[in-house]
Amino acid sequence: MSVPTDKSGALDESYYARVRDAQLVALWRVPGTDAPEPAPAESPYVWHYDELIGLLDEAGSVDLGGESDRRALNATNPGRVFGTTHTMVAGYQMVLPGESAPAHRHTPAAIRLMLTGRGHTVVEGEAVLMEPGDLVLTPGWTWHDHRNDGDETMVWLDGLDVPFVRGMNTQFYEDFEGKQLQPRLVPEDASVSRYGAGVVPSDESATTRHSPLTKYSYASSLESLRRLREVQGDPEHGVSIDFVNPLTGGPVLPTLACAMDLLPSGRASRRRRHTSSTVFCTTQGEGYSIVGGERLDWKHKDFFVVPSWTWYEHHATGDQDVTLFSMSDRPLLEPFGLYREQTG
Ligand SMILES: [Fe+2]
Repeated sequence: MSVPTDKSGALDESYYARVRDAQLVALWRVPGTDAPEPAPAESPYVWHYDELIGLLDEAGSVDLGGESDRRALNATNPGRVFGTTHTMVAGYQMVLPGESAPAHRHTPAAIRLMLTGRGHTVVEGEAVLMEPGDLVLTPGWTWHDHRNDGDETMVWLDGLDVPFVRGMNTQFYEDFEGKQLQPRLVPEDASVSRYGAGVVPSDESATTRHSPLTKYSYASSLESLRRLREVQGDPEHGVSIDFVNPLTGGPVLPTLACAMDLLPSGRASRRRRHTSSTVFCTTQGEGYSIVGGERLDWKHKDFFVVPSWTWYEHHATGDQDVTLFSMSDRPLLEPFGLYREQTG
């Protein structure tokens, strides 16, 4: 084959049509392939509990035809067709007094952050009591059901890795036999008794990819934040804790990391950005965040999204100190050297 020496000609549209017909794309015409840094399609956005609770109440006032166990409204990022970020979906779920959601399991992993009411989630036979501010894990492919055995409506924040799992073509789902509630196999809050005090039983090693601790109570999170603030001499930008797998020190789930920040009233967090995307939910207080140059105002039970590689900072404006729960997809990035972070 001869090498052409005259390169004065140009490719016409019929060439590109033939490339398309051959199921190919010409790389030199694809925008962004040499972009120096990510430009996520997702936008900063805040979902307000007070505005959305009416929509959940409306769904709670009618018969959903056996679908009441899925009375959840998922947050769709304005820059996406599905998903709060490209890897995660968050939303509010409601269970009315006396209602339950039958046991099932799926490969997407979930966290629940309790917002109102009181009830139980059962995970692999362990019932954990859920109270406001508590973080409860339902790891991927574990049997779980929910029941409201209190007299107040339960609403919690769901956080799942569904967009990631779907993107990997690995979503599986199964109903528990008879589509009923699970039998309780161990005492209530058994994992809290085993792992919840900062110690672990001797000679025990990790046998799962997720944390063996099913619940991280808000009372103990608040206490840890309070002590940390004290020993760090009340730092200017507040303090943060990571929820960890007590057997490994790693994230609570293989795909999701959870944390909580305490920002004293009148203070602001450091400005930062990272390649992980994050959903924040206000567990106490009020304030606003500047995310990608946009101001997002929030108060208790509101949640908002910080897309990947987007600068953000939080401001606590009310009389009360702010606590912000967060979940992120950082564990998906770190094993591949894709996690980067900047402060400034
Ligand atoms: Fe589920």
